[in-house]
Amino acid sequence: MIRTNLCDILDIEYPVISGGMVWCSGWKLASAVSNEGGLGLIGAGSMSPEVLQEHIRKTRAATSKPFGVNLPLMSRDADNNINIIEQERVPVVFTSAGNPSKYTQRLKAQGIRVIHVIANEKFAVKAQEAGVDAVVAEGFEAGGHNGKEETTTLVLVKQIADKVSVPVIAAGGIASGEQIAAMLCLGAAGVQIGTLFALSEESSAHINFKNAAFAAMEGDTKLFFRKLSPTRLLKGGFFSMVEEAENRGATAEELLEIIGIGRSKLGIFDGDLQNGELEIGQAVSMIRKLKSVKTIFEELKAGFDLAKTRL
Ligand SMILES: Cc1cc2nc3c(=O)[nH]c(=O)nc-3n(C[C@H](O)[C@H](O)[C@H](O)COP(=O)(O)O)c2cc1C
Repeated sequence: MIRTNLCDILDIEYPVISGGMVWCSGWKLASAVSNEGGLGLIGAGSMSPEVLQEHIRKTRAATSKPFGVNLPLMSRDADNNINIIEQERVPVVFTSAGNPSKYTQRLKAQGIRVIHVIANEKFAVKAQEAGVDAVVAEGFEAGGHNGKEETTTLVLVKQIADKVSVPVIAAGGIASGEQIAAMLCLGAAGVQIGTLFALSEESSAHINFKNAAFAAMEGDTKLFFRKLSPTRLLKGGFFSMVEEAENRGATAEELLEIIGIGRSKLGIFDGDLQNGELEIGQAVSMIRKLKSVKTIFEELKAGFDLAKTRL
């Protein structure tokens, strides 16, 4: 795989980042990805400040390479988690789901690299104006929360790469080396991968969740909650419940009630396929078995080399 300017900015070998993912991205996954030469992110969205501190320290003990923290800006503990990130001198922060001007300058003043996740052109420009070091352009195929515009990765990455001068990291639907090469062809300086790493050995997701994902076919994920925050879900009990509610025209308030609290933990971490929320991306149908992060990197590199010969 080739080096890009993103590798210099983040001090990494390969331009591959494991996205921060609630209930999946703890110290084990983050350190494994960093040890393979990518950038591993700890997903702070499901962590209290105490838990985040523990994961940062364990990541540091397990790798001497750079790593980062993903901080969803609207998460309950965002303000306290920022304090932990500063205290622990985390080298890189990926912010998402919120206003990029909120913390960017504060973190940058301490020498922390800041990268913001966007799903449309307006927010890419806003993030650049806020002073970020790069943006993640995340398209419609992605697992987890999604943009309201529903722009696909293929369209979004090209559009954003043409629009902003900071490096663009492509995300959404990428689960092979060939797809990484395709994104670099569009002008991306790297990729952020979620679904593939969520289903790795080192992910802290429950084995029931991983096995349900390995059995999923093309078309088995769907975007729901367009009236709230669009979220891509895997077929299961909760999927059917939400589908039925949306088909009968449930209001945003009714949908909020259906979600309740703790649904994603129940599905992803506790492995309750009936009642839990199962967040995963369209690329799930390309991933058929449990693999270590080391094997995943070997395959990504081989796929990238194959794409180069095709070009
Ligand atoms: C289970 C799961 C949980 C996620 N949680 C978060 C999160 O907490 N914060 C965030 O910014 N993105 C989150 N994402 C999005 C990923 O970080 C990443 O951008 C996305 O998965 C990329 O698309 P892909 O799944 O097609 O690889 C999540 C994705 C998944 C699959």
